[in-house]
Amino acid sequence: MHVRNIVILTGAGVSAESGIDTFRDAGGLWEQHRVEDVATPEAFARDPDLVHRFYDMRRAAIQTKQPNAAHAALARLDREWPKKAGGEVLIVTQNVDDLHERGGALNVLHMHGEHLTAWCAACDARHRWTGPLSHRPPCPACAAPALRPDVVWFGEVPYRMDEIFAALREADLFVSIGTSGAVYPAAGFVRAARDLGARTLELNLERSQGSAWFDETRLGPATEIVPAWVDEMLG
Ligand code: OAD
Repeated sequence: MHVRNIVILTGAGVSAESGIDTFRDAGGLWEQHRVEDVATPEAFARDPDLVHRFYDMRRAAIQTKQPNAAHAALARLDREWPKKAGGEVLIVTQNVDDLHERGGALNVLHMHGEHLTAWCAACDARHRWTGPLSHRPPCPACAAPALRPDVVWFGEVPYRMDEIFAALREADLFVSIGTSGAVYPAAGFVRAARDLGARTLELNLERSQGSAWFDETRLGPATEIVPAWVDEMLG
């Protein structure tokens, strides 16, 4: 099939070799913390201090990490593919770190939000935010002490689904990288892409839960298999 438009879904496995914990691998974040304690709207209502401290730590930690060879390779594809093939690349990431952007990628959509954005529950404004939130700083727009992490919690609706499905409809190739396929709706993109006629490729350390839905699976660390695939695509 002639490939023009590519949609790439990324997950925690892309950032693992930058030193950011994944969620479901041995020692992953959801082994260290209960989702119900730190990643639901109910948890935030019950114990906002705990939730803020958790995200303050994560926000501080990601700023000490650097993009790796997988982020760099995807950024190269993002920049060079339109010239080579006349099509588009969209990176849909479940990651809340900014390593795709710091790696140089331009077309990145954060469906689960971003650590480096604060969202005001009083006035709905969003602000770039690199410091802590646990001391309840005032919203720069409305001054209410109502900022929360701009991260999609369990039970909340992921961002920009319309744009994602519009891109899937136009995609010739769907590539899933470093994600376990455990969390919907992202886990369902592969089937949607297939139904809409795209070829599907999985790049992961191990087979994901939805592995059977992919036309092809390549296994290995992201810093090795992603640059190799990008080299192949760019010839
Ligand atoms: P998971 O922790 O569920 O899965 C990470 C995947 O990356 C696993 O399949 C690993 O095998 C793979 N992996 C680990 N190291 C890798 C490496 N070096 N190279 C390639 N692959 C590697 O993380 P996600 O699938 O991203 O949502 O999790 C999805 C969502 O669940 C997250 O966005 C988060 C979480 O709960 C929210 O917080 C809303």
